[in-house]
Amino acid sequence: MIILGIETSCDETAAAIVEKKDNTISVLSSSIASSEELHKKSGGIIPEVAARKQVESIIPVIDDALSVADLKWNSIDAIAVTYGPGLIGSLLVGVETAKTLAYTLDKPIISVNHLHGHLFVNWLGDNKPELPAVGLVVSGGHTDFVKIDKNFEITYLGGTRDDAAGEAFDKSARLLGLSYPGGPAISKLAESYISTVIASEAKQSNEDGHSANRRIAMTKLDLFPRPMIDSNNLDMSFSGLKTSVLNYLKNNNVGVDPRLRGDDKVAYIAANIQEAIIDTLITKSMFAIKEYKPKSFILSGGVSANSRLRIKSKKVLQKMNEDLKFYVPQPQFSTDNAVMVATTAILKNNPIGWKNIYANPSLGIEE
Ligand code: KG4
Ligand code: ZN
Repeated sequence: MIILGIETSCDETAAAIVEKKDNTISVLSSSIASSEELHKKSGGIIPEVAARKQVESIIPVIDDALSVADLKWNSIDAIAVTYGPGLIGSLLVGVETAKTLAYTLDKPIISVNHLHGHLFVNWLGDNKPELPAVGLVVSGGHTDFVKIDKNFEITYLGGTRDDAAGEAFDKSARLLGLSYPGGPAISKLAESYISTVIASEAKQSNEDGHSANRRIAMTKLDLFPRPMIDSNNLDMSFSGLKTSVLNYLKNNNVGVDPRLRGDDKVAYIAANIQEAIIDTLITKSMFAIKEYKPKSFILSGGVSANSRLRIKSKKVLQKMNEDLKFYVPQPQFSTDNAVMVATTAILKNNPIGWKNIYANPSLGIEE
């Protein structure tokens, strides 16, 4: 079975060809165009700009996916497309393109929920996460815990009450004068801060006052609060983080100035922002595992590209239960892509006619 996947829910235009053969799901091609550079100038996504860029990119991206896979249209069994949630203008470009292709080529369509795509990309290759699983989708718009039961049924368990974790990265990064998207920018600075501290400690085995201070700062990294971390549920809140960062900047005369990029102090603040978010996500993941006792834990969504989150959560969660299987996509399949759409379509395998698909910007995670 060979599927063409199309993803246009936000600022990425993506197409991919994925094949299922002998019970293994393989990627034949994955092509992505992003309007990220345009959004860097505005410091965030402007929906109208994103949609216009989708229109420009969609045909070249599909063409590229087919040519890299070295396939002709007659080899494609179905066209999978994200129908929600996302920005309506962006979603429509993918959905209408998929409909047109399905109609003219007489192929079935498989509609895919973007959030399911993030979760089910973990079934790539020979991976078959044992169910029931607990999944965490952590992206620019969502921070949701779900239970995945057999037949891939999804039940919402809890999540953020306000901003998503990715949004918290993006908004805090903006305060530090870092460019959009903020997650990778903060993560890069945080990693440099952490490795500098470790290197300096290793060098000074004869610990002096200075290195001791830095070690303490690194291990604690608790400049910013973790709201709701002790509540006995999966509720989270990230909207206060940007205010805490702003207050810290004001009180410490750091100033909000792009020229501070790369500065030690900014790297230290970035490491603290990252830690506040990661700590919250991991503490809540531990609660979910205690409460629901899943066989697998699935970390997914753009923020799951964060290397400290990947490493720390695997370590902490498997320490709680060494039989727990931990899954996270390769970083290029954590952020938006079309491989996740085609893979989900293979698992769902419910083709429909081109007349029966509509873009739904507010599609829920259980739908
Ligand atoms: O899933 P995604 O690509 O798009 C949505 O569906 O929202 O997620 C994008 C989010 C952005 O907020 C971005 O800052 C964040 O994922 N992100 C990261 C990293 N890479 C992307 N956050 C933290 N660390 C990263 N390495
Ligand atoms: Zn996404």
